[in-house]
Formats: sequence, structure tokens, C-alpha cells
Amino acid sequence: MLKLIVANWKLNPTVEKEAVRLARAVDTKGVVLCPPFPFLAAVKGRVKKGVLGAQDVFWEGSGAYTGEVSGEMLHELGAKYAIVGHSERRMHLGETDEMVGKKCAAALRTRITPILCVGEPLAVRRKGTAAVLRYVRRQLAVAVRYIPKNLRRSIVVAYEPIWAIGTGIPCHVFEAERMVKACAAFLVIKEKFRNVHGLYGGSVSGQNAKSYLDAEYIDGLLVGGASLRAEEFKKIVAAGR
Ligand code: 13P
Repeated sequence: MLKLIVANWKLNPTVEKEAVRLARAVDTKGVVLCPPFPFLAAVKGRVKKGVLGAQDVFWEGSGAYTGEVSGEMLHELGAKYAIVGHSERRMHLGETDEMVGKKCAAALRTRITPILCVGEPLAVRRKGTAAVLRYVRRQLAVAVRYIPKNLRRSIVVAYEPIWAIGTGIPCHVFEAERMVKACAAFLVIKEKFRNVHGLYGGSVSGQNAKSYLDAEYIDGLLVGGASLRAEEFKKIVAAGR
């Protein structure tokens, strides 16, 4: 199976021209490009082999929700995936597991595959593996309460420990694989999702990508900083081939 490499550009680049240039440079099969909302249409026009993803999605389809973007709108723009519940949104915008679950449901309703992000802060990691598992399982368990049974089809779960994001301190492969496997197993066995892919994210680079992609239970990567540097990102993609 081709491993999925998701580029989360976050609030970058600053201008559309640069977004289009980057998209062109890294457009490859198996790649999901997630630009900021205002660049989605321009990037869509340039992506031929890869696919388009959004960085967020709102849970309602229309109405008095200033500033929000619906799954229907994203679907119309050509987005196939939407990142949901990234730790930066949980931290800076107060997103809760309930909101995350509703967003996943909205994505699924509008034929967009959610990339549900979970992961623990350093304080929890310091308590050891059992505490990490409990923390992440709870994030998943609360979120999926808001996903009706009939929508439990394809979902992507991304294990992104907060202490590994943007720090240059990646999670050990053994530990990352254990967590990805546990998340996927929880969603398939306990919550009856039909098709689950598990990603790892957090300080992924051209150098360390292969070690994750060689792991049997890691189906792909969610890449932040390195996805903004075309040559570096291409190395990550090549590592999954
Ligand atoms: P970095 O790859 O910059 O650590 O970011 C990871 C991330 O948050 C992807 O969603």
C-alpha cells in the first residue's frame, strides 16, 4: 500500500504565488496538500497527482457562524481530506474533543475523510506509556461519541505528541508505531470504523521519515515544518516509495 504523506502547511506560506510554486514542486501520488483556506482553489488548480486537504472544517453546513467554513464548501473546492483537532487548534482556539468529534462527523457527511489528530503533552508523557495510552484513548473515545454509527467509514488518525511538534525532538519509532497501532485498533475494534489509516506526526524530516515509513503499522506521515521546503518534503515522499 502506498503510504500517505500529508503536508500541513499551517499558516504558511504568506502569499498565493508561493503556495502555488510549492504545490507544483511537490505534487506526487500519495501526497495530500493542506494549504490555508484562501489558497485552496489556487493549489487545487496545480495539483494533478496528489490531492487536496483542508486544515479544518466546521460542523454546520450553513447559518450564522461567522468565519467558519463548511464541509460542503470544501468538498466543492475539491478537498478530499480535512485535518481535524490539531493540537494547535486545541491549544490556541480552545477546541474540545466534542468539537473535534462534531467536525469529524461533518467531514464524513460531506464525503471528506477526516484526519483526526490526537497526542499528549509532555507532562503526560513523563508519566509513562500507560498514562499516554489512557490520555489518547480518551481523546478518541470522546470525539467518536459525536460520530454516528452510519458515518463510521474511512477515517485517518494522526498520532502527534505535542512535545514532538516543531521541536526537533521526534517520537521514537517504536513508541510512535505502538501509539498509531493502538489508535487504529481502538477505532476499528471498539468503535467499528471500517477503514482506518494511522499516521505519525511531529518533527518528521527527510532524514528520519524512512524509519517511520518502514514501520508496518504506520500508514503515513503528517508533516509540518518540513512540508514547506520542497526538497526536504520530496525526500520524505521518496522515503515512502
Ligand atoms: P512539525 O513537522 O513541524 O513538527 O509539525 C508537525 C505537525 O504539527 C503536523 O500537523
